[in-house]
Amino acid sequence: MHPLLLSLSVLWLLPLALTLEEDSPLDCVPRKFILYHGVNAHLFHEDGVFNYSTMLLREDLDLLVLGAREAVYALDLNDISKKRASVKWRVTAKQKSECQNKGKDPELECKNYIRILHTMEDKRMFVCGTNAFDPECDYMSYSDGKLILEDKREDGKGKCPFDPAQRYASIMDDDNLYSATSMNFLGSEPVLMRSSPISIRTEFKSSWLNEPSFVSMAQMPESENNEDGDDDKVYLFFSEKAVECDCYNKLVVSRVARVCKGDLGGQRTLQKKWTSFLKARMDCPVLESQLPYIIQDTYLWCDPQQHWRNCLFYAIFTPQSDTSDLSAVCVFRVSDISRVFAEGKYKTPVPVETSFVKWVMYSGDIPVPRPGACINNEARKAGITQTLDLPDRTLQFVKDRPLMDQVIQPIGEKPLLVRRGATFTRIIVNQMQAADGEKYHVMFIGTEDGTLLKAVNYDGEMFIIEEIKLFQSQDPIKILKFSNVTRQLYAGSDSGAAQIPLASCERSSSCMDCVLARDPYCGWDKRLGKCVALSESQRELIQSVKEGNGSLCSNAGPIKPTNQSIWPGGNVKLSCPKPSNLAKTSWERDNRPLTPSERLQLLEDGLLILNASLSDAGRYRCLSVEHSKTDKYTTTVAEYQLTLGPAGSGKGGHIVFPQARRNGPSVTGLQVVVALLVISLLVLLAWNFYKGHLPLPWKCGKKNKQSQGSCEEEGVNSAAHYQGAQKPALAEDKFLVS
Ligand SMILES: *[C@@H]1O[C@H](CO)[C@@H](O)[C@H](O)[C@H]1NC(C)=O
Ligand SMILES: *[C@@H]1O[C@H](CO)[C@@H](O)[C@H](O)[C@H]1NC(C)=O
Ligand SMILES: *[C@@H]1O[C@H](CO)[C@@H](O)[C@H](O)[C@H]1NC(C)=O
Ligand SMILES: *[C@@H]1O[C@H](CO)[C@@H](O)[C@H](O)[C@H]1NC(C)=O
Ligand SMILES: *[C@@H]1O[C@H](CO)[C@@H](O)[C@H](O)[C@H]1NC(C)=O
Repeated sequence: MHPLLLSLSVLWLLPLALTLEEDSPLDCVPRKFILYHGVNAHLFHEDGVFNYSTMLLREDLDLLVLGAREAVYALDLNDISKKRASVKWRVTAKQKSECQNKGKDPELECKNYIRILHTMEDKRMFVCGTNAFDPECDYMSYSDGKLILEDKREDGKGKCPFDPAQRYASIMDDDNLYSATSMNFLGSEPVLMRSSPISIRTEFKSSWLNEPSFVSMAQMPESENNEDGDDDKVYLFFSEKAVECDCYNKLVVSRVARVCKGDLGGQRTLQKKWTSFLKARMDCPVLESQLPYIIQDTYLWCDPQQHWRNCLFYAIFTPQSDTSDLSAVCVFRVSDISRVFAEGKYKTPVPVETSFVKWVMYSGDIPVPRPGACINNEARKAGITQTLDLPDRTLQFVKDRPLMDQVIQPIGEKPLLVRRGATFTRIIVNQMQAADGEKYHVMFIGTEDGTLLKAVNYDGEMFIIEEIKLFQSQDPIKILKFSNVTRQLYAGSDSGAAQIPLASCERSSSCMDCVLARDPYCGWDKRLGKCVALSESQRELIQSVKEGNGSLCSNAGPIKPTNQSIWPGGNVKLSCPKPSNLAKTSWERDNRPLTPSERLQLLEDGLLILNASLSDAGRYRCLSVEHSKTDKYTTTVAEYQLTLGPAGSGKGGHIVFPQARRNGPSVTGLQVVVALLVISLLVLLAWNFYKGHLPLPWKCGKKNKQSQGSCEEEGVNSAAHYQGAQKPALAEDKFLVS
């Protein structure tokens, strides 16, 4: 077989190999998987309408404004299944045929996808749609229970994308729209633009934006109590083809760019263009990866009580190539980003013999005022009070060299979370003060499969509390929002929108389950005998988020056994669902461990007794052993008193018909197939390790015999691995630079 084919088949088989190792005590498996029907979500969708991917929270109106294809909805913020109003915004037949004549798909692309929804100072809304590849914007108001488009259409070029499949970003500040999108039909003129009385935008130069994919935008009040008299900033996150790299044709890198809000452009040079556009590369160093990971979404988290410098950007990264199914979260300090722009060195292009241009660190003189800096006290002292006064030397410098030399590293220089499986798409972070008084950052991560992960990092140990399937279909999560007022999460996908609370503590029915969930929002109320939300209880609750200390729960009383009787020769299944993905179940008969046999089969969710005989009568107990950070905890999940005789069936178990489960040829056949698969997998793995096609085993699926093998330890291991892995990465950097 061709080596590539072989390694491809190994990659295909790897998930299988990892599921075989499922019993590892504490890996990055979500503790619980909540199926669609178990989620107490409010859902919204309307027949025939798709692409619910734009959201605006109007807490002042108690509304969630939801943008979909050709429609905008005003939904009750407390229960989005209640529609308050809606308005259609369809393309005209003429627009559709023009779009079709330009070669676009009339049913998919030549529609009006609502892409921009913002609130204006006067509380009206600003809304834009792709409008059959001819973007338009309008104003919208909500009054008397109606959504009204005001029909004050304006050109949406540079504000809203032409192409509904293209990524974009925008924010509204003081009625100025900052937008990052493409300005033309072909999508070949990317811009970061401010639409104000005088519009300011980026240059059309590959050194400014090079086939970018825009991700998100955020503003930072950096002028607040600033002793340098600095200006407020707008940050833009995106990925683009690296100009500074000549080693790969199409190497894509992650970037952060920023502009100053007070920027008015230059007088002669950079007229009506940003004089403060600077960008830098961002890195999220995932173990084993040679190619940089690509940024997909960010969430700005700021503590209202603290200085803006302490704000954090939580960012999602996914691999550049399809050969890996890892996703990562990296966290960046705003102060680290800001410092690179304020003090860092620049990169400069130098021509080399071939037609190439190489980008190297600029080591010459830097003009004053500093290129790309906002107007600050120092500039004002020199008589420069606005960007129009900036000297040409400074402007020419930044026009030619908008790229910083330094790469911005995440906190700890490594990801906070790496996970194999469904690709991450969106992230939200919420801070919760747990019962121990500490504040934890809880991450809610949307995936390509339409699930939502809830994860917390406890002192370096990554813990995924649960994975929730929000939608019946597997559509990717396209947007995630959090309302500080309702304390609810809102998610949108192509098929609909969903609303869920930050926690559903009542899903845990026992103290042990409630404590081992390590959910900072939930605690066990001894008096009520219930797992309840911290915010809704005045009492002291049992909670142990850092350790998952189950000893805090007093022993649950003995479980009342279920009577189960069975005919001799009959079959029965005694049910015992696993309380969590981190637990293992085992069975006892009359207080002695049960040894499985042909006739006594251990299933995922119970025990199967075939061809019962008198010797099978007795007391059956199903135990669950769950490893937590510090210890392992055993609980009784179910108990059965099995008697042989004619008295009908009991409650817990159920009689299985003899023909339903036999050691017939089908089972044997399956076993042979599985055995063959496993053997071929082992051969392939061995061959690939030998050939070095496959890196060393992955961090979060590994078993560790001696210790508990927690994610935390794996994290430390991976850091050590990373030291080794850093060398090639550095070599690559040199490639980029020298
Ligand atoms: C819109 O939704 C449809 C139906 O799910 C999907 O096929 C299409 O890719 C979506 N388009 C965009 C631009 O998201
Ligand atoms: C959240 O809302 C409360 C009032 O409900 C407000 O005091 C607080 O500042 C808000 N926090 C953020 C981060 O917006
Ligand atoms: C767990 O809780 C028990 C009971 O309060 C306590 O004795 C024990 O030290 C705790 N274990 C850890 C590791 O904190
Ligand atoms: C089970 O049977 C015993 C007698 O064998 C009886 O005392 C007990 O109440 C029964 N339990 C239930 C739940 O029916
Ligand atoms: C069931 O068990 C009895 C002995 O207890 C045995 O004689 C009989 O062959 C078994 N039946 C099957 C179908 O295995």
